[in-house]
Amino acid sequence: MSSDGVNSGRRKFLTAATSAVGVAGAVGIAVPFVGSWNPSAKAKAAGAPVKADIGRLEPGQMVVVEWRGKPVYVVYRTETQLADLAGLNDQLKDPESEVSAQPAYITGIDRALRPALLVVEGLCTHLGCAPKFRPEVGAADLGGDEWVGGFFCPCHGSKFDLSGRVYAGVPASANLVVPPYSFEGDNILVIGVDTEAA
Ligand code: FES
Repeated sequence: MSSDGVNSGRRKFLTAATSAVGVAGAVGIAVPFVGSWNPSAKAKAAGAPVKADIGRLEPGQMVVVEWRGKPVYVVYRTETQLADLAGLNDQLKDPESEVSAQPAYITGIDRALRPALLVVEGLCTHLGCAPKFRPEVGAADLGGDEWVGGFFCPCHGSKFDLSGRVYAGVPASANLVVPPYSFEGDNILVIGVDTEAA
């Protein structure tokens, strides 16, 4: 695995993959759900874990995986996006995730098992709307030069950074929830199975 946490051989894997998984990184492009290899609807309703091939995800892009009827956002953060996280701490309510929900094995401000890969539930911690992925730096409607990319909830205006950490001065009070997850090999993300139990 390379230093940014993504398998250096993933392109090779992709060539062999048959399930096309689209990705999107820009505003206005629908972020697709990843559906391959998931269990039946009945099994999902019972809480079965789901698997997603993340091998095609490129830096700066996001896909959505459905787990237990909830959207889970999977974002491949760039090195710049990761580097920006520490500078945001003073603007956040819970920068170290001391009161926000996440597995015990998720630590640090990147809130991820693999630093580059963010995995969070796509449900606003205010009243449950789906925050929008807004990675564009300097977005005029989100604070201009202050904005280095993150998520924006259109319902009541809550903002989250690219670790899902909530900004101060917005209705939501907790960071986006990190679900239990683990990996199978380099490219298969398993949501719903703790890494400690895998
Ligand atoms: S539901 Fe997101 S700000 Fe209210």
